[in-house]
Amino acid sequence: MTTLLESLAATCGAPSPAEATTLPPEAYGSQELFDLETERIFKAGWVPLCRVEQVAEPGSYYSIDILGLPLVVTRDRAGELHVLSRSCRHRWMDVCSGSGTTRALQCPYHLWTYGLDGHLAGTPEMGGSTGFDRADYNLRAYRHDVWQGFLFVNIDAAATPLAEQLAGVPLGSILRYDGYFLAGVVLPGILILRLVWRSTGNWAEDAALGAAVGIAYQLLGLAIFTALGLQDWLVVWPALVVVAFLAVPRLRPYWRIARPAPLPLAWSWGVAIAVGVLVFGVVTGPMLYHLAPSDGSVYNQDMLYHLSMVHELMRSVPPQLPQVAGESLDYHWFANADMAAAADITRLSPELVLFRLWLVPLTVVSVLLTAVLARQVSRQWLAAVVAVQGSQATFTGAAQNGGLTIGILPSDPDGPVSRYVDVAVFTGLGDARNAVNVLPRG
Ligand code: FES
Repeated sequence: MTTLLESLAATCGAPSPAEATTLPPEAYGSQELFDLETERIFKAGWVPLCRVEQVAEPGSYYSIDILGLPLVVTRDRAGELHVLSRSCRHRWMDVCSGSGTTRALQCPYHLWTYGLDGHLAGTPEMGGSTGFDRADYNLRAYRHDVWQGFLFVNIDAAATPLAEQLAGVPLGSILRYDGYFLAGVVLPGILILRLVWRSTGNWAEDAALGAAVGIAYQLLGLAIFTALGLQDWLVVWPALVVVAFLAVPRLRPYWRIARPAPLPLAWSWGVAIAVGVLVFGVVTGPMLYHLAPSDGSVYNQDMLYHLSMVHELMRSVPPQLPQVAGESLDYHWFANADMAAAADITRLSPELVLFRLWLVPLTVVSVLLTAVLARQVSRQWLAAVVAVQGSQATFTGAAQNGGLTIGILPSDPDGPVSRYVDVAVFTGLGDARNAVNVLPRG
């Protein structure tokens, strides 16, 4: 078995499509591998049982054996669905078989009778037993859920609710991603920024510039760790910075702002409003159009192309074109490399990172960077407010080519500040071609 798992791991870990092979033949018929899949995948997840139409009427039932368990799906008289064990609690006889309609489930052996919700309703011959409590002998009920008319069962009572897995984003995943972004990208970036340059004097502007520095630092780590085949250890890369700034006495002062420059109230309100508008636009714009793959609806091919690049960047540096073995990948992929590093560190799926988690924090950072750059160029707080308020959020991907790119296009695209903001935004989004195109000419 160990040999087969090692062989499977080697197959999945092929460094490039050119070196890919097929699954080991024994993987198709190995009972041990199937048992392992059953324990770790199927019993820990949601498994479809039937369509709700198969138990449409009150009183209907549908028997099915799955994962070695004899189950029956019932719809009780109140219309509620249940997924129950078919094993009688007396001597484990099946209480029903096949499908149909009934008023109750009655075991053919000693005629114990169960309601369609699984409660033990009748026990002939047990009426005089004072130590016997029917409530202790109900049919075992399993967690179930319905999605798009499919009824699923979950053997693991602690699993994430199905609706969260299929249609939304689990809260735990959001917290894990945001925790990673703050502690693994922004914080190391701020510390490096203060060491090699200085603090802006406040945490908001430091966070904006720190995020940009942290992303660049992370890309370097991704290149090194992926080239060495140590992607699983990429979390060590940002941790090195944090530990160094905690452990080395000379670096500890960088945790504090030496010369505070408090943010004017107008700046805070102006930037907060711009952040709110843009995040609202992102969530109700491209994120609404582009549901994650498990949704099962129509997907934009460009998003799947980007997803293929994220996967490629998680396993190969320098990357190759995922669809053509041997061709180098030189089209804009920095954003995808950022997502690859995020998936490596958080262990969240690349699909979840690309379709749901990556864009919102980057949107906030983009607005903050606009404000910081405007103030740095003009030396005026007010310029930052004007810059972010004057920016118009347009969703070029959704509106023009179905992608998930956002462009922040200032009202006056020929103004010098606007141009440099565009360069920063496009660069931050990994869109080098557009960054070059919007550079001031002449
Ligand atoms: S086995 Fe079911 S009633 Fe005895």
